[in-house]
Amino acid sequence: MEMEQLIMKERIFVTRQIPDEGLIQIQAKFDTIVWDKDEPPSKPEIISGAKGCSGLVTLLSDPIDSDLMDSLPSLKVIAQYAVGYDNIDIMSATERNIVVTNTPGILTETTADLTWALILSACRRIPEADKYVRNGNWKIAWGPKMLLGRDIYDSTLGILGMGRIGSAVARRAAGFSMKILYHSRSRNEEIEMKLGARRTNLDKLLRNSDIVTIHVPLADDTRGMIGMHEMRKMKRSAILVNTSRGPVIDESALIKALESGLIAGAGLDVYSEEPIPRESALLKLNNVVLAPHIGSASVDTRAKMAEMCAANLIAALHGKTPPNIVNPEVNKNE
Ligand code: DGY
Repeated sequence: MEMEQLIMKERIFVTRQIPDEGLIQIQAKFDTIVWDKDEPPSKPEIISGAKGCSGLVTLLSDPIDSDLMDSLPSLKVIAQYAVGYDNIDIMSATERNIVVTNTPGILTETTADLTWALILSACRRIPEADKYVRNGNWKIAWGPKMLLGRDIYDSTLGILGMGRIGSAVARRAAGFSMKILYHSRSRNEEIEMKLGARRTNLDKLLRNSDIVTIHVPLADDTRGMIGMHEMRKMKRSAILVNTSRGPVIDESALIKALESGLIAGAGLDVYSEEPIPRESALLKLNNVVLAPHIGSASVDTRAKMAEMCAANLIAALHGKTPPNIVNPEVNKNE
């Protein structure tokens, strides 16, 4: 018998079918269990599926808290298949010497593309126009006031969070000759120099932007960052776009703002609850474009995310520092 076969392989639980580009690499090295249903596993299902596992591959819909970690004492690494990791209690992982990794950078451009798809769709009312045609309402060839939208060209774009994705959104704005305002913890001199973007406080950004787009991670200081108070400062003609995390916006305030015409429209990829409940008032509004959290959903990007996630997992379980470690302080606990 080969030496390798004599050594017990470490066990991995993968909470959903991720693309083969990463899965095959994981399966080649570890005893791998993959949750094969479309519905995500519940917390008890993760705990029972991952019994005895050293590694977990998680998605942003998996609640990974301290109880779950305590129920899996052999867990050494949580490799998140996403850049955001607000579903994972990082402090608890660090306290338990569990390495957490994510997939940054690789999905930046794809998410920026989707942000622009929402900006264009919301400003030019594309979903409404599509329905109009399909439903047989297009009876007059050309109407001077038919489906009038808002200009993007030459308008002002307000970007909340000028990190990787915010910057990629800003670069695309150059093609539309937009003025760019941004509000971010740190200054982005490159974007200021190359695109003439101006860093402002939140108040000025909200008052002066025609389109406000959100690119901050979900954290204690960003939860509910945009509520009624903030939307009251926005132009009545403004469009609000969110491809970051739903709870950054107070969703009930947003619904009221859209219903009352306080702002003109919105483009959303993320929600306070996902999937969006069937009874959500958002589904009844015409002035909002809705996507089902598909920011990173391109064939190539999802494959690269899987490769990156596998590389992180393998490195961590081989005793190396993974390329995309979220809690580097973990090793200091040893
Ligand atoms: C992420 O990776 O955090 C995205 O939300 C997934 O599209």
